[in-house]
Amino acid sequence: MKSYEKLLLENKAWAAEQVGKDPEYFSRLSHLQTPEFLWIGCSDSRVPANEITNTAPGEIFVHRNIANMVVHTDLNMLSVLQYAVQVLKVKHIIVCGHYGCGGVRAALSHQDLGLINKWLRNIKDVYYFHKDELQGLEGDARVDRLTELNVQEQVMNLAKTSIVQMAWRSENRPTLHGWVYRLTDGILHNLIRMDPNTSIDPVYTYD
Ligand code: CO
Repeated sequence: MKSYEKLLLENKAWAAEQVGKDPEYFSRLSHLQTPEFLWIGCSDSRVPANEITNTAPGEIFVHRNIANMVVHTDLNMLSVLQYAVQVLKVKHIIVCGHYGCGGVRAALSHQDLGLINKWLRNIKDVYYFHKDELQGLEGDARVDRLTELNVQEQVMNLAKTSIVQMAWRSENRPTLHGWVYRLTDGILHNLIRMDPNTSIDPVYTYD
């Protein structure tokens, strides 16, 4: 059997298992989704949002990209954000990074990686912003600290969007969270929390 054929076979087994436990499982989920959370995570295959939070389909709206970035010109991310905030009305947005992130490591290297240089450039800017602290670190310590600072900056980037600011003002939600996941023990750590209407630099605020 080919590897992808196994996926389709496992899917049938999984679907049957769900119906075995709860006959209404799919009919209920097919009617609507009311997730309380938007997850912005890394595409890394080892950091699947639902598995590591022990949540079921329907509980987390998910966007993943390389190094869990919130880039203000990224129409894909912004569309997910707008839908999650304005239509699904999520209460929490979680930016989740992870130690050992290949994207963060690559951003610290000098290798010309082609197109992806442009994406990693956003992480290089985070490095530059926190250069004084990061220059004092070496090897994995530097990568890990940049991973944490990157998560914090992406949470800040969410707060700088008119989408989040509008929901903060009118509905006092969502709360923004920055977490980091450790691949070696499976534990999530809380780095930063921004409650609705936390003040940010006025240059980034919209009427
Ligand atoms: Co990663």
